[in-house]
Amino acid sequence: MPLVTYLADRRMWLLRTPGSCYAFALDADDRPCHVHWGPPLTAEQALTVPPAPRRDTSSFTQPGYGELEGPGFGAPSLRLIYADHGEGVEWRHLDHEIDGGRLSVRFADRHHPLEITLHYRVHDDGDVIERWTTLRHTGADDAEPITLERCDSAAWTLPPRDGVRLSHMVGGWSAENQVRREEPPVGETVLTSRRGTTGHHANPWIMLDDGTATEERGEVWSAALAWSGSWRITVQRPPFDAVGFTGGFGHEGLRLRLAPGRSWHTPIFAGVYGSAGFGAVSRAWHAYTRRHVLPHPDELRPVVYNSWEATGFDVDLDGQVRLADRAAALGAELFVLDDGWFGDRSSDRAGLGDWQVNPERFPGGLNKLIGAVRQRGMRFGLWVEPEMVNPDSRLYREHPDWVLHMPHRRRTTLRNQLVLNFARPDVAAWAYDWLDRLLSEHGIDFLKWDFNRAFTEAGWPGQDDPGRLWIDHVRNVYAIMDRLRAAHPGVRIEACAGGGGRTDLGVLNRTDQIWTSDNTDAVDRLVIQHGFSQVYPAGTMVAWVTDSPNPLTGRLVPLRFRFHVAMAGVLGLGGDLSAWDEAELAEAAELVAEYKRIRPVVQHGALHRLGTPGESLSGVQYVHGDDIVILAYRVKTRFGHHAARLRPAGMDPDARYRDVVTGRIHHGAVLASHGLELDLPQGDHASAQVHLVRQDP
Ligand code: DGJ
Repeated sequence: MPLVTYLADRRMWLLRTPGSCYAFALDADDRPCHVHWGPPLTAEQALTVPPAPRRDTSSFTQPGYGELEGPGFGAPSLRLIYADHGEGVEWRHLDHEIDGGRLSVRFADRHHPLEITLHYRVHDDGDVIERWTTLRHTGADDAEPITLERCDSAAWTLPPRDGVRLSHMVGGWSAENQVRREEPPVGETVLTSRRGTTGHHANPWIMLDDGTATEERGEVWSAALAWSGSWRITVQRPPFDAVGFTGGFGHEGLRLRLAPGRSWHTPIFAGVYGSAGFGAVSRAWHAYTRRHVLPHPDELRPVVYNSWEATGFDVDLDGQVRLADRAAALGAELFVLDDGWFGDRSSDRAGLGDWQVNPERFPGGLNKLIGAVRQRGMRFGLWVEPEMVNPDSRLYREHPDWVLHMPHRRRTTLRNQLVLNFARPDVAAWAYDWLDRLLSEHGIDFLKWDFNRAFTEAGWPGQDDPGRLWIDHVRNVYAIMDRLRAAHPGVRIEACAGGGGRTDLGVLNRTDQIWTSDNTDAVDRLVIQHGFSQVYPAGTMVAWVTDSPNPLTGRLVPLRFRFHVAMAGVLGLGGDLSAWDEAELAEAAELVAEYKRIRPVVQHGALHRLGTPGESLSGVQYVHGDDIVILAYRVKTRFGHHAARLRPAGMDPDARYRDVVTGRIHHGAVLASHGLELDLPQGDHASAQVHLVRQDP
């Protein structure tokens, strides 16, 4: 069955994935109109889908029913203004091209020199449909530019359903990924970042259901934007018609100029439909990310030790080597020197931007430390924050015009730093040069690429198209990462933005893992990781075991529970190991070894959320071939409540499952109906890890 079919009689395109179908068609005026996004349909069936109701016949169509609407009564996906003050698009279909799972449909405006191409891509290994848009100004060199006020990647429409519920993410620094599931009002709900980065407060994905879906059942429509700058998703719920949404990069108020001969392309705004609940849709995102987004999906991510929580800015050769000794003894495979190794960076007040190794802290440079780390059998990683500068730095004193700023406006510092304007080619070239030199001159295997503040006063004096900086900054960050990866193919990158402020499919396309949150409290982390898992895979979610009491929350949590929470993703160690006693070190070494045994299942398996983290029992389950790993958590114990049992997902009732540690055999039918009894210690913060292997019949 072809992935993409063109049904010429109805001028309809049909995109088919293993578990879903997407269709759109041209109307009599050549406008591309949505037809279907949902369960699989044959071509014959798709041809009989009733057209979506239209309330007007001009190009000012109802929002949500077109593939990419012109200005209308709702939030337009495309808002263009021409030199004669005309707006919108009158669509004229030119042609289309189908290449395997890829479809591009080309249009022109009936009057203005504008070409629009709608792009679609489907894969035969999953239900994610990728969509993006390109615009081209086809006028002569001396033609007037076209102003873009909005250029979304795609608009999506759901089939009519009685109810609707919107799932999305809210949060803040150290409280990322808090899932909200609520009925959106009739009208428009805007989820957005105006911060120049993805944001801690929201994340560019949504899920919609009819109000009845559960983790394991029901229809869910979801979309995620692959972009690490400002963004906007507008959900439109009309009073009587089906729900739709439009999304793309940039926030409201941005104006961009499209000059003659220039093209404009949007990031991918991918969508997935599933009929087996939120869990299955999350797994579809995880599988897609592994197969089509991540640069090194087949690798296992190493156990990292990061010294940030142990030393803060107080780093030097001897102290780091002492920590490296202990980290290696525990089984860490990658040692990361965090902030403080360069310039006058003894606090967050100075030195950012001066990327020369601090000679007092590391006499003779970093190579001694790198050698010591390697001798201990670990790889070496280094923290950088290339897009930022402290005003108290040599770089800023030499190039005060390199930061985002506006004439006659203050330059607001956040964490005592300003944002370098990476849209400027000279700034981007400077950043690539020092990063490339750093990697060429040292045996560095890994960069932790941080970004610790949002844009403010985002101007670029002297530029006639200053709005571009919001987009070009991110594109240049991507380009630098891509070039560095090509020039140093062994280097791996962790995306970080004051914790998880840059978590998205765009950054995951050129990095290997994400620093999930600066909050390393295991109890808070359960919630943060639950939210992360809605779209992003466990193999990208870095989680450190740190000290108890937790430096942020003061909570006391046993080492074993802290480990079991961090083992749910890419395990790391982040505590002050010099303060851990012998018993803790011995237990930690055992737990690191335990993680390494289950790591392929956790990092590459299919994830099932078992319950919602809270006061009662919850867990995460990973399935990889015949291996099943369950991590279970009981944050608070309650006397008199039922025994600790979790029902594993997807059990084959005819199969037997052997517990790798105890050798005990469980029947799938019993596990599915009565659950797995967990051997949890008494008291609060009780946890367990169970590894089952499905037996041959
Ligand atoms: C914020 C990060 O999230 C932390 O892990 C650490 O790298 C600090 N920045 C360093 O300044």
